[in-house]
Amino acid sequence: MSTSNFSTAAGISPGTLAEILTHVDGGVMTLTLNRVDKKNSITSAMYSAMANALESANHDAAVRAVVIQGHESIFSAGNDIGDFLNKPPSTSESPVFLFLRGISTFPKPIVAAVCGPAVGIGTTMLLHCDLVYAGDNAAFSMPFVNLGLCPEAASSFLVAQLMGYPRAAEALLLGEPFTAETALEMGLINRIVPPAEVNALAQRQALKLAAKPLTALIETKRLMKKGNAGIVAERMAEEGASFGRMLQEPAAREAFTAFMEKRRPDFSKS
Ligand code: COA
Repeated sequence: MSTSNFSTAAGISPGTLAEILTHVDGGVMTLTLNRVDKKNSITSAMYSAMANALESANHDAAVRAVVIQGHESIFSAGNDIGDFLNKPPSTSESPVFLFLRGISTFPKPIVAAVCGPAVGIGTTMLLHCDLVYAGDNAAFSMPFVNLGLCPEAASSFLVAQLMGYPRAAEALLLGEPFTAETALEMGLINRIVPPAEVNALAQRQALKLAAKPLTALIETKRLMKKGNAGIVAERMAEEGASFGRMLQEPAAREAFTAFMEKRRPDFSKS
């Protein structure tokens, strides 16, 4: 199969391309978060690159499955907080929402390889992947409330559906992190392996998928997701509107400023 690179997708400046690496081999497009010095936190340019890569993968007949991976030490620290402060997503066409719509409606199989922290969207994007493999160092968290925000990626619906309301409340109201073992038990991930083996396992599974008839994969995924598709789209839009508004409010601004200033936030006035 052909090897191609989607990193040059329109609208992405060359300076940011190194932070999202993509390549296609054996029918699998591998998308690598490559901003390890900033814990793979995701800027709006990176969201654009990821949305464009998925769009290209959707339309490229040479791509039959996608792998999303980070580094052995970190999957993603979620949204880049400075970028969110300076360039908050203001419309439904903002890069973060384009990426979320892209991943949640992506018709071909997506396999994720997760090691180390998976914060915020680092965890919620997994709700839209089909197979998730994790290192035993993986740590999942959705600390939206702690940041003065509300959930995104339809996680306010999908997390409770997946793990039941009581555990969803611990994860989303308290924002408590949970381990790979807990994620496995709750059904968020498929398997735990040593961190050094996660990317290779994801790749092997994706190659297995890529060898299967694509039309059968797409139709099976569509049928499995059909029951949730409408509510996911609707919830994502509602969350997005709230999230965008809350980003401008005092609690989020205090949380983000505190993170930048490396101090504890003071929510006594919010
Ligand atoms: N946005 C922007 N920068 C981030 C970031 C984020 N979400 N997460 C980490 N970074 C940066 C840090 O500011 C630091 O930069 P510096 O070296 O210039 O000071 C660098 O990445 C390393 O982060 P650090 O916190 O020192 O690493 P750690 O190993 O001690 O902790 C995390 C890793 C992921 C647990 C921690 O960075 C974290 O909690 N990040 C914030 C997660 C978050 O709240 N995300 C928002 C979700 S909406």
